[in-house]
Amino acid sequence: MTVIDLTGKTAIVTGAAGGIGRATALVMARRGARLVVADIKPEVRETAEEIVAKGGQAEALAVDCATDEGIARIVAAAVATGRVDILFANAGVTGGLMPRLDTPTEDFAEVLRINLLGPWIAIREVLPHMRKGGAIVCTASVAGLRAGAGPIPYSASKAGVVNLVQTVAMALTGRGIRVNGVAPGLIETPMTEPLYADARAKGRENRIGQLNPTRRGGEAQEVAEAVAFLASDAASYINGQVLAVDGGLSAQLPFTPKWSL
Ligand SMILES: NC(=O)c1ccc[n+]([C@@H]2O[C@H](COP(=O)([O-])OP(=O)(O)OC[C@H]3O[C@@H](n4cnc5c(N)ncnc54)[C@H](O)[C@@H]3O)[C@@H](O)[C@H]2O)c1
Repeated sequence: MTVIDLTGKTAIVTGAAGGIGRATALVMARRGARLVVADIKPEVRETAEEIVAKGGQAEALAVDCATDEGIARIVAAAVATGRVDILFANAGVTGGLMPRLDTPTEDFAEVLRINLLGPWIAIREVLPHMRKGGAIVCTASVAGLRAGAGPIPYSASKAGVVNLVQTVAMALTGRGIRVNGVAPGLIETPMTEPLYADARAKGRENRIGQLNPTRRGGEAQEVAEAVAFLASDAASYINGQVLAVDGGLSAQLPFTPKWSL
């Protein structure tokens, strides 16, 4: 038995067409879970196909994961497996890469809808089916911990996710359902591809991740392993927490190296 064993569990992963969601679905399948993977992009089917090709079980749904209808279809697919044990509410958008003080109302609202309301709808709808306990993990971001890592609506939405994790964990007191989050730092995924592409085009790839003490950007796989751990019984006494998976970025204050003073 591996320490992180998800054998026999059914897990929902949203935002699973690529990046962190896809990597997490593959890790969870490898650890024995049955997967229901969802994304607004039809490419999510490739994630399910890869899991099945490797001997696992997975169903894919191309739906908007921030609507009642989309989540209802996802939960129904999970319930049809006979149980719902794990929800990884991960789908998200940046709404741009730079902070803008003139962000229109509808743009701000759309980021909140996908990044914050989406996880809430998913949590609300899975809870009645987690009768024998369960584990919920949400994707926040270091941008939700403090300023400096993302645009205004994105950062506010992710701060909301941090609070959602804490508040729902407390509201579920005594129900045997743990709620945690991950706060990734800079991870190479389709979301950050423009930033990586720009750095590579300028020959500055070696500058990526230099603000964190691990001194590199992260891989989706490294977040996936943390999520699988939080979703597993190995994390049975971890509840209401948001784990930064950021190479140490959020552990430090900005500093001026001694040699440059
Ligand atoms: N990559 C990073 O550096 C980083 C850092 C911190 C947090 N995050 C967060 O990690 C999560 C995963 O992002 P990623 O980096 O893997 O990028 P990604 O773009 O590959 O993944 C996000 C996925 O969410 C999907 N999605 C967007 N809106 C949706 C909707 N309404 N319904 C269903 N699916 C929808 C996208 O199609 C995409 O596949 C996001 O919540 C993101 O905010 C990423």
